[in-house]
Amino acid sequence: MSGLVAVGAVKGSPGVTTTALGLAAGWPMRPGGAPVVAVEADPSGGDVLGWYELPGSIGLVSWAAQARSGQLGLSGHVQRLPGGVEVVAAPVEATAARGAVEVLTGTGAIRAAADTVTVVADVGRVDPWSAAAPVVAVCDLLVILARPVPVELARVVGREADLTAAGRRECVLLLVGEPAWPLDRVAESVGLPVAGVLPEDPRGAGLIAGRPGGRRAPGPLARAYGLVARGLAEQLADRRVPLPPLPAVPDALALPRGTTGASAGRTAAVLVPGASSPEAQTQEGSGWVPSTTVRHGRGERR
Ligand SMILES: Nc1ncnc2c1ncn2[C@@H]1O[C@H](COP(=O)(O)OP(=O)(O)OP(=O)(O)O)[C@@H](O)[C@H]1O
Ligand SMILES: [Mg+2]
Repeated sequence: MSGLVAVGAVKGSPGVTTTALGLAAGWPMRPGGAPVVAVEADPSGGDVLGWYELPGSIGLVSWAAQARSGQLGLSGHVQRLPGGVEVVAAPVEATAARGAVEVLTGTGAIRAAADTVTVVADVGRVDPWSAAAPVVAVCDLLVILARPVPVELARVVGREADLTAAGRRECVLLLVGEPAWPLDRVAESVGLPVAGVLPEDPRGAGLIAGRPGGRRAPGPLARAYGLVARGLAEQLADRRVPLPPLPAVPDALALPRGTTGASAGRTAAVLVPGASSPEAQTQEGSGWVPSTTVRHGRGERR
C-alpha cells in the first residue's frame, strides 16, 4: 500500500533525516507492494547529498523543474544509496531547497507520487509557515520526533491540535532515547500516541548517514526502525475510512479557536505494547512493536 508519511520535529535536530532514511530502509516490503522512497523535503536544506557525496543534478531540484513543466512523476530523480534506500535528495542550500519544495507542493507532485509509492518525507521543522507545511497538510501520517526530555516534550504539548489538524490527521510521537517516564504517561501528557522509542545509537545513526562503521549485522537503531516502520505501515493500511479533507494551509496547521487542545475525540492510545495502559494491550495482536525490543540499546529497560 502506498501513502505519504511525513517525518518532522517541532524544534531541534533530533534525527529527522536519519529517521526518514531509517524508516524507508526498514519499511516492510510485500511482493507486488508499493516501492518506498525517502524524499528530503526539508526547506532548510538537505544533508543526504553531503552525507553520501551524491550528484546534486538528480533529486529535489530536478524533480521540481520537471514538475513545473507538468511532469509530476518522480522517476529519474531518485538515487539509490549504498544500503539500497531510494532517496530524492534536497540541495544543501536552503533557498534552493525551499524553492524546490514550494514547486513540488504547489504542483501537488509529492502527494501525487504517494498514490503509487510509499513516500517517507523529511519535512524538517513542522511550522505553519514552513514551505513544507503543505506536505504535512496532505500527509496520511505525521511522525513527530522528540527527545524525551521535559524541554522538548513541553514544546510538543499544546501543539497536538495543530499537529493533528484538530483530530483530522493521524500523528504519532517517536521518541529518540529512553524516557524517564512510562510511555503511557508521555502519551497522555503530550496528547499524542507514542509510536516507539529509538535508542541512542551514534554508530547506527552514523551508518545511516554513510559514515563508515564496520558493522555488518543491523544494530539497535536499524532494528528499531524496522519495528517502528512495521507498525506505521500497519497504521497506514488500517486507515479504512479516509480522513475528511483538510482545510487549506496555513489554516490546516492553525489552532482553531475554542479547541481545548485535546485531539477532538481521539484517544491518545499508547501504540507500543508493554506499556501499562489497556490501550497498549489491545494493540498486542496488531503487530505493534514490543517496547522491550525497541527500547533495548545499551541500557536495559527500567
Ligand atoms: N538515534 C540516534 N542516536 C544517536 N545519534 C543520532 C540518532 N539519530 C540521529 N543521530 C545523529 O544526530 C545528528 C542529527 O541527525 P539528523 O541530521 O538526522 O537530524 P535532523 O533532525 O534531520 O537535523 P537538521 O535540523 O540538521 O535537519 C546526526 O549526527 C545523526 O547521526
Ligand atoms: Mg534533517
